[in-house]
Amino acid sequence: MAWLELTSEQTTPALLRTATPTDRAAIRAVLLGSGLFGVADATCVDEMFAETWEHPRPDGYRWLVAEQGQAVVGFACYGPESLTQDTWDLFWICVLPSARRRGVGRALLGAAMEDARANNARLMVIYTSSTSPYAPARQLYTALGFTHVATVPDYYCDGDDLNIYWKRLR
Ligand SMILES: CC(C)(COP(=O)(O)OP(=O)(O)OC[C@H]1O[C@@H](n2cnc3c(N)ncnc32)[C@H](O)[C@@H]1OP(=O)(O)O)[C@@H](O)C(=O)NCCC(=O)NCCS
Repeated sequence: MAWLELTSEQTTPALLRTATPTDRAAIRAVLLGSGLFGVADATCVDEMFAETWEHPRPDGYRWLVAEQGQAVVGFACYGPESLTQDTWDLFWICVLPSARRRGVGRALLGAAMEDARANNARLMVIYTSSTSPYAPARQLYTALGFTHVATVPDYYCDGDDLNIYWKRLR
């Protein structure tokens, strides 16, 4: 994927690129520096990342990273959902707090949708939490045209619903 320059008024612009195996530690660091995700989340993502390179598959996970001044400040993981006809999922998206509200998340999700469309994706679906720390993520999905189509009450734990966001890509 080509590099994409993001606009930023006061800091070095961020650039998007496809991840490589050497991004493993940086992606873990973004999760652990997010103020939201913990070691269990980082380990889950780490296993998905390892799987991507150890057992490459055309329908496997896809990874984008955002770099600012040669440091990884965000990433997205997405790909086709098995046993569906061209439905893709956004599995993870995260931007370091120091790089937020400058269009990095928008660019990551936009590039993921663009890649999905280029690979004939029909739908993109995102699962997220109903709790307040996830409000920026829900705002991002709405801003990029996703619709909140379903809620599963108490899915993650009591008081923490699953919110499903949906967007038709073609
Ligand atoms: C969600 C997240 C990736 C957004 O990244 P970001 O780089 O700050 O997002 P952007 O600057 O590209 O914002 C794009 C749009 O999303 C919405 N948005 C993002 N953060 C927001 C916030 N804190 N409050 C309100 N709207 C917000 C706005 O519509 C924004 O457009 P605008 O800046 O023109 O108003 C980031 O907040 C994050 O990493 N959160 C923690 C991890 C997380 O929740 N991941 C999702 C798990 S399902």
